[in-house]
Amino acid sequence: MAGRYAEFHRRSIEDRDAFWAEQARLVDWHRPFDEVLDYTRPPFARWFTGGETNLCHNAVDRHLAARGDQPALIWISTEVDKVETFSFRQLHAEVNRTAAMMQSLGVARGDRVIIYMPNMPEAVFAILACARLGAVHSVVFGGFAAASLAARIDDARPVLMITSDGGSRMGKVIRYKPLVDESIRLSRHPPAKVLIFNRGLDSDMPRVPGRDVDWKELAARNEGAQVACTWLESSEPSYILYTSGTTGKPKGVQRDVGGHAVAMAASMRHIYCGHAGETIFTSSDIGWAVGHSYIIYAPLIAGMTTILYEGVPIRPDPGVWWKIVQDYKVSVMFTAPTAIRVLKKHDPAWLGRYDLSSLRHLFLAGEPLDEPTHAWISEGLGKPVIDHYWQTETGWPVLTAMHGVEKTPIKYGSPSFPAYGYDLKLLRESDASEAGVDEKAVVVIEPPLPPGCMTTIWGDDERFVKTYFSTFGKKLVYSTFDWGIRDKDGYYFILGRTDDVINVAGHRLGTREIEEAIQAHGNVAEVAVVGVNDALKGQMPLAFAVLKDVSKVATPALRIDEEKAVMAAVDAQLGAIARPSRVHFVTLLPKTRSGKMLRRSIQALAEGRDPGDLTTLEDPTALDQIRSAVAGN
Ligand code: PRX
Repeated sequence: MAGRYAEFHRRSIEDRDAFWAEQARLVDWHRPFDEVLDYTRPPFARWFTGGETNLCHNAVDRHLAARGDQPALIWISTEVDKVETFSFRQLHAEVNRTAAMMQSLGVARGDRVIIYMPNMPEAVFAILACARLGAVHSVVFGGFAAASLAARIDDARPVLMITSDGGSRMGKVIRYKPLVDESIRLSRHPPAKVLIFNRGLDSDMPRVPGRDVDWKELAARNEGAQVACTWLESSEPSYILYTSGTTGKPKGVQRDVGGHAVAMAASMRHIYCGHAGETIFTSSDIGWAVGHSYIIYAPLIAGMTTILYEGVPIRPDPGVWWKIVQDYKVSVMFTAPTAIRVLKKHDPAWLGRYDLSSLRHLFLAGEPLDEPTHAWISEGLGKPVIDHYWQTETGWPVLTAMHGVEKTPIKYGSPSFPAYGYDLKLLRESDASEAGVDEKAVVVIEPPLPPGCMTTIWGDDERFVKTYFSTFGKKLVYSTFDWGIRDKDGYYFILGRTDDVINVAGHRLGTREIEEAIQAHGNVAEVAVVGVNDALKGQMPLAFAVLKDVSKVATPALRIDEEKAVMAAVDAQLGAIARPSRVHFVTLLPKTRSGKMLRRSIQALAEGRDPGDLTTLEDPTALDQIRSAVAGN
């Protein structure tokens, strides 16, 4: 492929240091870096070593002179029917005050702070205040239940947790605080203090004297406080974000400071084409990677106005997002394919009701974007809709069109090409050789990973290497755990995960985590969870359980009760987002003679496909049970 993109990408790989040194000029450095990349300990990449900077300075302080009065953050909640706007100057004041509040609660450089809040301005203040202090934030998605939160507390060992009394979804209050209390009760390394922003959603909110601190009271005592930015060495940790993998234990994806800042600034320019003074609307939750990167860090570092949205895409009506685009002159919009599939079920006239002339691109990521949905939204909006592919681990796009570099044509169903900085390969699973055109293979990245990608797993370097760099034996490559193909024109297509991770409405879940949650139900002896195709959500978890006491499912009514009880166990351990669509009870699960569960065969049968090679199957009747369970017999 010729053209500007190809040259840009080639330089990023072949002339790596010069390329990234140039990108590094997009952010402020308190002390210049000595070296662009220290790669003396593969696969650990340390970017911009010796350089000192601060993410909060880059996101807030440095904009005060040129754009202090420009809106930095606009919070729109269709749940509680509120809009709040903060200019860069106001955001600066709020973040300073929050940093002072956190300091008064004992938070210092390197300490961890868990933030468990819905999309609300105070969550953004808390995140940026951590960055200001050099504290490491770990935001946990509000949909996770107490046991999941406890596991994250024990791994991160925070000195402080920040939460609110609750959130709201579709007008229904979700109480957070009882769940926080329960998670602290379950944890071995609880935080000393819990800071609570009381939204007035839960009048019965429980309080623990001596531990719980009221945000508004503490804020009143810190009015006007100023806290200087703590200059951090580029490779120091900035945050941890937990994500699911093949084991039941979530991994703490650790990000650095300098590499992250540069990656955010560069991606906003070359990929999202967002400029200072413009407005971006990313509909994600702050608890996900998309929220971290494209609601908070990248837009603010670029001097943009960012919209923080609390609500769903169809309430009060399916035009609400397009009205936001019109009213706030949104230039860049980012959401997940599921949201578009939800909108697609409504009258397409909603797409034409508002003036969308400010909008240049719509970006979609987080799960496969099917061709019909890609076509529907592109044609409906009359704008380029860019499917792009990345992971929590990478923090920014791996495969994408880069219209800031070259306006390459879009192919429906394809996230286009490897982003600059990524030396992408498609390797055959069998012998790690490179796959040819149109051949399905594993998507891998030749290390070093570019700036902004995870630097390690929090507290576990060994697990980082073992998990991500050991798929192909001695060949040190980063596995994305996704299947992909490249066509004759160089366009990539992502075909789903190679491991046991599933994607439900853009939410990444590990089937092992769900299995462990189900096992918490006392009557379950053994269980297999697989992801099956779902027209709206992409995938849904489906469970097959073997019970200890089968008399509990002796009648249809009992069976329904038991299924509900198993689902309740998942709700309690992980949260309702992980709840299986059905729990089928069987007496045997298909396994190989060596005892390995045949998940791919179970999944194939559940989707009505051929179960594949069954020569190693121990007992063929196990598959018959799966077949008849999904057939409803
Ligand atoms: O399987 C891929 C899928 O989502 C996974 C990463 O999920 P998460 O860590 O939650 O990060 C989301 C950040 C956008 C990937 O391994 N995935 C993500 N984007 C796409 C995708 N699958 C197909 N097409 C995409 N555009």
